[in-house]
Amino acid sequence: MGRLLFFLIFFLFLSLPNSSLSSFSFNSSTPLCLSDQSSALLHFRNSFSVGLSNPNCVVGKYSSSYYPPKNSWKMGTDCCGWDGVTCDSMTGHVIAVDLSCSRLEGPIHPNTTLFSLCHLQRLNLAYNYFYGSTISSKFGGFANMTHLNLTESSVAGNFPSEISHLSKLVSLDLSWNLGMRIEMPSLKRLVQNLTHLTELVLDDVSMSSISPNSFMNLSSSLQSLSLDYCGLKGRFPDNMFHLPNLQLLCVGYNYNLTGSLPTYNWSTPLKSLELSRTEFPIDLPNLISNLKSLKELYLRGCNFIGSYPTFLPNLTQITSLALSENNFGGQFPWSLLNFEVLTYLDLSGNNFIGQLPEVTTNLTQIFSSNNSSNSQLVNKIPSSLESLILSGNLLNGTIPSWVYTIPSLRSLYLDHNHFTGHIGEFQHNSLVALWLNNNNLCGPLPLSISKLVSLNGLWISFNNLSGNVESKIFSKLKSLEYLDMSNNPLLSLSSFTFATNILPKIVILQLSSSNITEIPHFLQTAEYISNLDLSKNQIKGNIPKWFLEVGKDSLYNLNLSYNSLTSVGHLPWKNLRYLDFRYNLLQGPLPVPPLGISFFSTSRNNITGQISSSICNLSLVNYLDLSYNHLNNVIPSCLGNLSNHLIDLDLQNNNLNGTLPMKFAKGCRLRSLKLNGNQLEGPLAQSLVHCRRLEVLDFGNNKVNSTFPRWLETLPKLQVLILRSNNFHGALGNPKTKFPFPNLRIIDLSHNEFHGHLPTNLFKYLKAMMNASANKGELKYMGDNYYQDSVTVVMKGFFIDLVKIQSLFTTIDFSNNNFKGEIPKSIGELRSLKGLNFSHNNLTSCMPQSLGNLTNLEWLDLSSNKLEGEIPIQLVDLTMLAFLNLSKNYLFGHIPQGKQFNTFTNDSYNENLGLCGFPMTKACGNDEGQQPSPSSTIQEDDFEFENGFHWKVVLLGYGCGFMFGLGLGYLVFSSGKPKWLVNIVYGGRHNKLQRS
Ligand SMILES: *[C@@H]1O[C@H](CO)[C@@H](O)[C@H](O)[C@H]1NC(C)=O
Ligand SMILES: *[C@@H]1O[C@H](CO)[C@@H](O)[C@H](O)[C@H]1NC(C)=O
Repeated sequence: MGRLLFFLIFFLFLSLPNSSLSSFSFNSSTPLCLSDQSSALLHFRNSFSVGLSNPNCVVGKYSSSYYPPKNSWKMGTDCCGWDGVTCDSMTGHVIAVDLSCSRLEGPIHPNTTLFSLCHLQRLNLAYNYFYGSTISSKFGGFANMTHLNLTESSVAGNFPSEISHLSKLVSLDLSWNLGMRIEMPSLKRLVQNLTHLTELVLDDVSMSSISPNSFMNLSSSLQSLSLDYCGLKGRFPDNMFHLPNLQLLCVGYNYNLTGSLPTYNWSTPLKSLELSRTEFPIDLPNLISNLKSLKELYLRGCNFIGSYPTFLPNLTQITSLALSENNFGGQFPWSLLNFEVLTYLDLSGNNFIGQLPEVTTNLTQIFSSNNSSNSQLVNKIPSSLESLILSGNLLNGTIPSWVYTIPSLRSLYLDHNHFTGHIGEFQHNSLVALWLNNNNLCGPLPLSISKLVSLNGLWISFNNLSGNVESKIFSKLKSLEYLDMSNNPLLSLSSFTFATNILPKIVILQLSSSNITEIPHFLQTAEYISNLDLSKNQIKGNIPKWFLEVGKDSLYNLNLSYNSLTSVGHLPWKNLRYLDFRYNLLQGPLPVPPLGISFFSTSRNNITGQISSSICNLSLVNYLDLSYNHLNNVIPSCLGNLSNHLIDLDLQNNNLNGTLPMKFAKGCRLRSLKLNGNQLEGPLAQSLVHCRRLEVLDFGNNKVNSTFPRWLETLPKLQVLILRSNNFHGALGNPKTKFPFPNLRIIDLSHNEFHGHLPTNLFKYLKAMMNASANKGELKYMGDNYYQDSVTVVMKGFFIDLVKIQSLFTTIDFSNNNFKGEIPKSIGELRSLKGLNFSHNNLTSCMPQSLGNLTNLEWLDLSSNKLEGEIPIQLVDLTMLAFLNLSKNYLFGHIPQGKQFNTFTNDSYNENLGLCGFPMTKACGNDEGQQPSPSSTIQEDDFEFENGFHWKVVLLGYGCGFMFGLGLGYLVFSSGKPKWLVNIVYGGRHNKLQRS
């Protein structure tokens, strides 16, 4: 899962700005600014506040000219001399405005003064944050507009058909604006009227109602067409591949788009082709031989004709190549590439093995090398490489030295492989993004890192790096925004954490499991910090006062779990969405998180006092976990008002009393409700039937005095029902619904006062306990990315905390009640059952032979009942059974022999009327007959292995720290934050093609 996340994340860095940032350079020699124009410009710019920078603007070569925001714009000065403003040299009219990357934040007013600049020919507002403003139809009034760029500026809504009035438009870029749509009539008009278009960039503009055929009549002057992520379906018109001037064609990530690439006579000047994640059948050798001018080829997750690697042709003409996520394996044939011209190589997300090739220009070395070493040789130094992306493969060995000598290298992604050895010294300072995380690298951080002045992201987590990280390494890294050094147990960070005045631009800082004892002091000047993960460290005592001033407006995600904090005080961060204090030593009253919080956990602390009703002001909270504290008094009834937002509510193991006061309204979104281990009285809120998504209900260990809450049987998703140790009473009776509890897998009614017969009909319908084979092999846990359910169950006679609940886990525990009568035969239908406990009841009669059908059963406890007769021989078929307790019954006769039965001891059978045979000392007499022992030669070990495996699976998955990253991504994603922030953690971007 982590791997997937990282695939997503690294796309961010691939999207380095290229032509979309191309600046307008008109030489205005005669400054003639008209005053109404300068005030219109200023008014426009001042209608926005200063927002965060878009990473597209700070990464890479454009950073110096576009960041920080332009400050030459001053009233009283000549506006024609302002940065980004160009005037007509004759008339003095403003004809070009470039405010891209200016950190403008706020809505564009429908009547903004911008529209009074009617002579504009070029307008570039890319990479700002306009709050989802719609593009006003007034944009259609710029009669002489030739270039309009609003890429990634958070404009939204319908594409205004008035854009097609801009008949002189040469270049239109409205890409990467979440939630922008274009409908058929607007597109038709656009295709008809914009006859001068050479560049049309509409990536990520939703076109679900558009037929790809509508593009057929686009202007023949078109040079570049980019329609990635548009939701295009069906067949892409063939003629598009024959447009006489087309140099760039991107239709990737239109998952249901197909078409056929011409197979011969394909004489186009096409240089760049993006078909990733489409259904185009791709005949690579043919494509390469037909497209003589092709330089850039992006085929991620594609549908290739032929089988790898035989179809891989010579790719020596290619300068940019992406073959990621294609499930290719084996060694990559490096010699097919032309390392001299290659600038961009992405092979991530495959299963490539072996080492990176050694580069040598020494011919004798080539000839003298024999193939016994794992490494291949390439005889060209990759001197032009800018991006090398090999994440998520199975590559091993040390990182070869040529990697450190490439003069132009900007992005190096070797994360999620098996690289070993030290990180070498970088010979050049061109690197912007360095991803080495999740390998087996060791040794110190190379000193040359301190010279990488353009470095924006450094990811070295999950390695075995060691040594002292000196703060001076970071003193020149003024552009560093993303730093992850987590999980390098031998890395010493104390000098780093005490440093001040470093990393002024830091946005994401991850130092989980880093043995730090202090919140890093340099955060005092970190104006933009958004995500801070300091979990699993030794930070003690109170949160320092100064920290409460850090990131007041920017902090979004704060993870301080698994430390030794004792108090936190008032929490000031108004944009915080995710706050995790799990596993600390917090005392005193419950801290109140900021109102916008989505995830809040103070689980496993020493918090006392009551839950104040002010908690109900958290009107956006989805995950509220206050479990394992000493909270007392009653649950505020207003919590029910949050049920349309709350997804998980965990209050287990506190001292709460009273009844469950909440009323759950229709549309309740609750997925999991855990109140185990309090002193709550009943009855259960029947309004829970409105929570149709409820999967987990844990009311165990309380004082509920009530009959069985039958109405729960209608909840379609309920999987876990725990009512253990309460005062439930009465008979269970037969279900009232036709298909009761269709998804129930764990039911624990033990330690109550239920009586009457076991519910024969209920067992017939517990579907989720029947189809064992249906989802075999799938290892899933309940919960979602940032919240796993944990419950306690009794397994094999022990209380076990399931920190995560495996989705295959199924158990029934009705022990310690007053159930009477026989065990229904229908129990044998529940074939995926792993545990069955009916002990300590008054069950009578014989054990049903159908128990032998429960072939997944790992523990069976029927002890302390009044069962009679012999143990059914069919039980020998329970080859997974590791725990059996039949003691204290009235059983007699032969104990079945063979298979698992060879492993049980006396304890399994004590205090019965007369059981005989192994392991009892009492041998069976002749009159007691000889039970056959089927195939008793099977080795125990076989089963032990299998069992061992299962247990590991169930008990594994300790803690949630690993999940935080993913959780964060989710939160950010669903929050309506700037798109770039979504990109950072959630990905979703792909590289933009380099346009010429
Ligand atoms: C836009 O129009 C509204 C109402 O007509 C007015 O209050 C506002 O000041 C106008 N804004 C601009 C920028 O002209
Ligand atoms: C548009 O361009 C034409 C021809 O160059 C010119 O005559 C006209 O005044 C321009 N219109 C505006 C609004 O600038």
